[in-house]
Amino acid sequence: MKKIIASSVLSADFAHLAEAAQMVEKCGAEYLHIDVMDGHFVPNITLGPVVVQCLRPFCKSVFDVHLMIENPEKYIDAFADAGADIITIHLESTDDVKGAIDKIHAKGKKAGITVKPKTPVEAVFPYVDAVEMVLIMSVEPGFGGQSLIPECLDKIRVLREKYPNLDIEIDGGVKVDNIDKVYESGANIIVAGSAVFCSNNPAKVIESMLNRP
Ligand code: DX5
Ligand code: ZN
Repeated sequence: MKKIIASSVLSADFAHLAEAAQMVEKCGAEYLHIDVMDGHFVPNITLGPVVVQCLRPFCKSVFDVHLMIENPEKYIDAFADAGADIITIHLESTDDVKGAIDKIHAKGKKAGITVKPKTPVEAVFPYVDAVEMVLIMSVEPGFGGQSLIPECLDKIRVLREKYPNLDIEIDGGVKVDNIDKVYESGANIIVAGSAVFCSNNPAKVIESMLNRP
């Protein structure tokens, strides 16, 4: 499957987000992963639709919006109108997962679903046929720079075996030194936050993640 790097802006300098987005686009990251946190679903607060809208004119990357918020259905239209291309919601964040997926599709956007590390992967099965992507969290959502939880790779293995053609994204703790294991597990879309933005050579990191020896 095609490998894609989704650079997470969470570890970028928020005073210079547009430059950060342009830089990773130039370095070969096809997706810009935008982490939205509300201080309720996760213990951190990041950004809202206005920031996505401001960033949109500055780069052509696919805007991969990861909603870590309660009642995501309330904000889907706003993020879609702001320029999101893919909108991913947590199964744990709403009682009406199917309704939220339908809302994303009604705006003409791709829908993703995701689960926290402790939620069994089987929870996504009923929705896989209704979405374009499944994201498996490999850290507890809320902060960048954490270490990958190895058990999460087993969830990806199970998912890949059952769905050979599915776009499977992994988010959290992926670095150049563990990416081979990540690919082996079956993930093909790689979120990379601190690995890219905390490096003094982001181009080399992205290149190394895409082209393995
Ligand atoms: C965590 C976010 C991630 C985070 C990943 O809740 O969803 O996207 O930015 O950061 P790294 O790659 O540093 O683990
Ligand atoms: Zn994320």
